[in-house]
Parts: sequence; structure tokens; C-alpha cells
Amino acid sequence: MKTNHFWALLAAWALCIGCQSDEAASAPSAKAQTIADMKRATDNHSFSRPQEAVTTHLSWTARVDFDTRQISATAQYQIATADDAQRILLDCRGLDIASVMVDGVESSFELGPEQPFLGQPLSIPVNGQSQTVSVTYTTAPDAAAFLWVEGEAPFLFTQSQAILARTWVPCQDSPGIRFTYDADVQVPANLMALMSAVNPTEKSSDGHYSFVMDQPIPAYLLALAVGDVAFQSVGDHTGVYATPDLIDAAAYEFAEMEDMLVAAEGLYGKYAWERYDLLVLPAAFPFGGMENPRLTFATPTIIAGDRSLVALVAHELAHSWSGNLVTNATWDDFWLNEGFTVYFEQRIMEEVYGRDISEMLTTLSYQGLVDEVDGMMEVNPNDTHLRLHLKDRDPDDGMTAIAYDKGYFFLRLLEETVGRSAFDAFLKEYFTGHAFQVMDTDSFLAYLDDNLLTTEERRESVRVKDWVDGAGLPDNCPEVSSPRIDKVDQTLQAWINGSVATSALPWNDWLYQERYRFLSNLPNGTEAARMAELDATWQINSTGNNEVLFAWLEQCIRSGHAPAYPRLERFLVEVGRRKFLTPLYLAMVETDQKDMALRIYGLARGHYHSVSTGTMDELLAWTE
Ligand code: BES
Ligand code: ZN
Repeated sequence: MKTNHFWALLAAWALCIGCQSDEAASAPSAKAQTIADMKRATDNHSFSRPQEAVTTHLSWTARVDFDTRQISATAQYQIATADDAQRILLDCRGLDIASVMVDGVESSFELGPEQPFLGQPLSIPVNGQSQTVSVTYTTAPDAAAFLWVEGEAPFLFTQSQAILARTWVPCQDSPGIRFTYDADVQVPANLMALMSAVNPTEKSSDGHYSFVMDQPIPAYLLALAVGDVAFQSVGDHTGVYATPDLIDAAAYEFAEMEDMLVAAEGLYGKYAWERYDLLVLPAAFPFGGMENPRLTFATPTIIAGDRSLVALVAHELAHSWSGNLVTNATWDDFWLNEGFTVYFEQRIMEEVYGRDISEMLTTLSYQGLVDEVDGMMEVNPNDTHLRLHLKDRDPDDGMTAIAYDKGYFFLRLLEETVGRSAFDAFLKEYFTGHAFQVMDTDSFLAYLDDNLLTTEERRESVRVKDWVDGAGLPDNCPEVSSPRIDKVDQTLQAWINGSVATSALPWNDWLYQERYRFLSNLPNGTEAARMAELDATWQINSTGNNEVLFAWLEQCIRSGHAPAYPRLERFLVEVGRRKFLTPLYLAMVETDQKDMALRIYGLARGHYHSVSTGTMDELLAWTE
């Protein structure tokens, strides 16, 4: 029974990874051959060897201690082992392991040497009959996945993607290995605990919470948040969690989540995770959003008061198919998660808000992509390939506009080549046929050839290889345009040459996308006096839209418009979203204002998550 289960898993895994054998030297038996194939390294960012033993279910019992900033826990796994298995390998980073059991009996274990980014392999002896392993451990106070917020409103959240789950749970931290889980979590009595699982909607009286996640997920989708949060429903399958001060604003901002869910299902098939809720995190969250299954984690900086920044919700929702259902096999295949998600996001936006809006967004992202590609071509052109080679590097290096927007434009090219209805049918079948499986780049390309690029003509017009393993943006990249954005560009030119006065700008008629375009394309070196005039006329410094504020602050730094600096400082101390931090600190460095950058960073750094301090420490050459 058990062995059958293992071989079924193995077979599915072999299919998905698309392993090929080139070492069939002495005609081994079919089973030995499969094991040999499986033993080939597949994920450079995990020590696990799923061919020998895999985790299939996690039972996690944990106590969260805000005073020591630690979690003490037991992770018990059900495992499936090959007949000749000798060990199971788990990924760990900074965990203090107290004891290990195999099938309920105390066991020896070995922690291998620490490696950069990866942490350590935890090796536990098992055999072909072993059923469970359990690890009792404590996390480090500075565990990289965590951010502990102190004060009157304590808050803890985790960020596991890409390879930080191992800093709070010993696990096979490889996107191709899925497991179900349940959890028992004890937190301070006045706080609520939430996970990427079935969640409570009210606080318990004693701070004890139980969770179940019945659908198998990879470790990077493990998530926990603890804080004083309330729940408000916004639809039949959708709702928001936020701290009491933000709950009403959040419920208003995200009221259209159910419409997005309906639109998404209409496009690419049934939603697989039952509920879709969103948790508003503290502003220190290093990302815009994270697609933790059933419960997207989101930055509060998208609460603009007018629902203008909800594309991010469409994005995280889309991951419920691209990423969470069909999962990139390794971080080299990250574009399969993000490129598909950006494409799907735009389709949801088009469905719910109309093509004018979605084309405005793609036009902005095209500009961002071209700028980023230009920069990357000078530094490391190989990083502009869709298929990455991140061995010996932090997988975080793959989080560039390439996976996202070059990925998007590649899919858009496919759409334009075969027509929308053929492409939609293809994508729907892709998600349905590979649900709860992994996908690597080669397997996707084979699937694409078999199912979509079925004629020589189509293959020639797409030129897949140029996109996937070639640098830069191929010359068949689809063109996007938006009449409203074109108009903004003309108005900007007229403002620059003086034919349109500041007071004559149609600022109040502009959507945030138009304001963002105007501000981000102001010429470098726009005089501070003109910035002052813009602000005096349109009160940009006090906008409630953080994308507009961000574009404005960057230009203020580049223009040396000092009256905006107190606002800049407040923003940087409050907000830990890396997408905003990097360009703002960089602008200070590039304009000989590094002293200011270091001073503000000194004030802000303690509030940031490790994902953001990692990047900023490097950018500012910060040493503690
Ligand atoms: N899954 C990503 C966030 C991520 C990627 C975290 C890689 C760690 C490693 C998430 O879906 C995402 O893409 N977020 C974007 C939002 C977006 C609208 C493009 C972000 O946070 O900026
Ligand atoms: Zn994403």
C-alpha cells in the first residue's frame, strides 16, 4: 500500500520534472533505473532528495513567544520512502534542534555544514518501512522569514518564498515537493493566529488555534501571521483581515474581490482553494503581496481609499492557478509562476475594469521592463533570459522584471499569434491538466509545442528559444499602447517646454496611472522650483496613493527638492516594501545624498524585514 503510494508519487514527480536518463549504462531494472534517474539533482536550492524519501503531510505544534521572538515547535511529518531509503533530508536554517523521533522512537540525526542562503541539511536515518519523523526545535530570534513588530499592537508575520520556510520549519523546501498540513498554534491570548489554511474569523479566548490545509502545497507557501486582527466578509467566498484601525478601509478597498474571483474562474477554471481572503499586514511587509493559499498577505500601501491599486489583488488571486496549482519546479523556472500570473492578472483587470485600464497598466509595465532590461544588459545579460541559472546564488536574484514582464509579453505574443480563444483554451487546459503538479521550463516548452505551436508558421513567428534562452527583449515583442498614456506623454512635453502651465495640467482628471506616468517621466534635473510649483498646485506630497507618492518622492530626491524630505523620511521609516525602498535609497546615493540615505536608513532599518535589509545593506554598503 505504502510503497504503491510512493511509486505513484515518484511517477508523477518524474513526469513533471521531465527527467531524462542518459546514464543507462548497464541496463538496470526498470525500478533501479527510475531510482537512478530520480537521484539526479533537480533543485539547487534544497538539500532534500525526494527520490529517497518525501514528506507528504506535516502536523505542526507550535508556541509563539513575542518576548524571546522565538517559536518552539514540533514538526511531525508523514513520509513516503523508497524501499532502499537510508535517510530523509530536510532543509533547516538557524534552527536549534532539540530532538528527533522516527516512528515515535528517539533517533539520532545529523546537521550538515551551513551553506550560504541554503542553511543546513538535516539528515535523519529512515528505511523503506518508516512512516513518520518528528523534529522538536526552536527558531532563532533573527529567523529570516519573520518580522516581529513590537509595541502596543504586537504583530508577527512570516515570508517563506523563496527559501525562507526552512528558517521556521524544518522542511523539504523545494517547490516540487508538496504536502498537506495541520497545525496547533498557541499565541498570546489577545491575538489571532492565521495561516495559509482554513482560518478562524474570530479570536479564541485562550490564544489557541487549529488549522487544516487539505490540499498539498510546497513549503514556500507555508505562512503564519499573529496579531490583533479582525475579519470582515466582502463576498460569498471572500473577506479581509486587518487590524481594527484598518478593517473598514480594507473592506471598502477590496470590496470587488469576489468579482475578481468570479472573473478568474470564468477565464481559467474553478478556484481550487474554497475561500479567498486577504490579510492586510503591517507596512513593514517587504512585498506588495504574497499568494499564500486561501489567505493572500498584502501591504497596507495598496489601501488608497479609491480602489485604484487593486491590480495587486488580481495578481495574488491569479497565483491561485499559476504558482499554487501549477508550480515552478525550481527557482530557475520562476517565470512560469510570475509571467503566467502577470498575464492572468491583466486578464482579470480587463474583465473587471475594462481594457482601457488593463492596457494602461501594461503600457506602464512595458516602460518599466525596457528600462530594467537596459540596465541588466550592462551588468549580467544572462539574467535577462526567462530561464534562469541561479545555482550558488540567492533565488531572490530572480525577482526582476524578466520573470514578471518579459514573461507577460511572451505569453501575450503567444496569445496574439494563435488568437485569444485558442490561447484561453490552451491555458485553461494547462492549469486543469497540471493541477497540484510541478512544471519546469523544458516540460512547458514541450507541452507548448504539442498543444499550441503546432505549425511551423506559428513556431517561426514566436521564436521561443529567443525568449527563453536569449538575452534582452526579442524584436517580436508585442507592442502595447494606451491613448490616455500617450496623452499624458504629450502633456508632459508641453509642460516641459512651457506651453502648458502647471495650473493647466489636468491633474484632477487623471487616474493614478496617468499621474504616475507624468511624475516618473519628469526629466532628471527638473528644477526644484518647478517641483515646488507642482506641489503647491496639486498637493502631491500629501497624496494618499502610495504609487504616486513614491514616483513623486523619487523625483524630489533627483531634483533636490528638500521640502519633500520630511515626507520622504516618514515614508521610509514607515514602509518596508522593497520595491519602493530600492529606488528611493538608490536615488539618494546617485545624487550625492548618501549621508541622508544612511541617516534615514539608520532610523528605519530596525523596522524592516530581512528581505529588505538584505537588499538595502548591500546597496548602502551598510555595516552594523
Ligand atoms: N510571489 C510574489 C512575491 C515573491 C516572489 C516573494 C519571489 C518572494 C520571492 C508575489 O506574487 C508578487 O509577485 N508580488 C509583487 C506584486 C505584483 C503585483 C507584481 C510584489 O510584491 O511587488
Ligand atoms: Zn507574483
